[in-house]
Amino acid sequence: MMHSFAARAARAAASTKTVRKASNVAVLGAAGGIGQPLSLLLKADPLVSGLSLYDVVNTPGVAADLSHCNTPATVTGVTGVGNAEEALKGADVVVIPAGVPRKPGMTRDDLFNTNASIVASLAEACAKACPNACYLIISNPVNSTVPIFAETLKKHGVYDKNKLIGVTTLDVVRANTFVAENQGKDVRDVKVDVIGGHAGTTIIPLLSQVPSTSFSDADIEALTQRIMFGGDEVVKAKDGAGSATLSMAYAGAHFTSQLLKALDGQSGIQECAFVESSVTDAPYFSTPVTLGPGGVSEVHGYGTLSAYEQDVLDKAVPDLIAQAEKGIAFAAK
Ligand code: NAI
Repeated sequence: MMHSFAARAARAAASTKTVRKASNVAVLGAAGGIGQPLSLLLKADPLVSGLSLYDVVNTPGVAADLSHCNTPATVTGVTGVGNAEEALKGADVVVIPAGVPRKPGMTRDDLFNTNASIVASLAEACAKACPNACYLIISNPVNSTVPIFAETLKKHGVYDKNKLIGVTTLDVVRANTFVAENQGKDVRDVKVDVIGGHAGTTIIPLLSQVPSTSFSDADIEALTQRIMFGGDEVVKAKDGAGSATLSMAYAGAHFTSQLLKALDGQSGIQECAFVESSVTDAPYFSTPVTLGPGGVSEVHGYGTLSAYEQDVLDKAVPDLIAQAEKGIAFAAK
């Protein structure tokens, strides 16, 4: 049995070598609730050739554990405050779930004071060690941490708007799940675009655009609220032990895998992502984007909205502008 698994892994490794450009992926915050399952999923991704794990604690154990999985990616671990640069050398993609998560009663913005400095210091390390990498920001509040990251890269003269992405995939994952349940559909056949940002009422699912569905007004209201505040369901259920980790790892690994395919030359890959945008007055906004060999290759608009969605959007844009400005002001200090 072991023999056939090993043989299959060897064949997979050989085919990976010949047909695909494999990539080095670094995970910052790799020992955390999201970091560990995310790193496991990335270790299993055939497009990852090197997985570099960084955290201020516990990385050697996580790296040793993952390194025993018989998949082609090599795993290394770096630990200790201020040592991120060592882990980042040679990275093509950097995924960042470093920082504190919410406890019951907290908004994502309540995390700002702690996570803003963590994200700024990691952005600085990225600017020095891997200035051409693509950066995927998971650390909350995403609506402010992405602008902080951008400003820090700008200070170092290495900002590329196509390579900085706030990960809002969990909102899409939740929307797909809740809509499939509501409509009695196979979740694999449901694809909901979620635009805006990644915090409460800035999360805007476009239910009016999901093909072959029919919602009552009450359904639209209830589903929209559930998608906006899906994170709170998990925070409440975990009762002080953190926020979404497993579903976030799943969502983060999905997005990373899609990006790796695009970097590898596959065309037509579209995902919703929070990026620098001129689609609305907010400087950063999530809409479907096409991914390509240089990161984001095209930022799309959001199409025709229902009156309900337009109203939610109109209310969200000022919040998104304020949350971006808060991040920009922090980075300017
Ligand atoms: P966690 O506390 O379990 O893990 C965070 C990890 O970051 C810890 O291992 C910690 O040692 C590490 N860390 C702290 N400072 C660091 C630094 N300077 N450099 C490197 N690592 C550092 O938290 P969890 O649950 O993994 O959440 C992480 C972040 O992701 C939180 O900010 C949370 O709000 C956010 N999140 C984002 C979601 C999204 O959809 N974008 C969804 C869920 C959570």
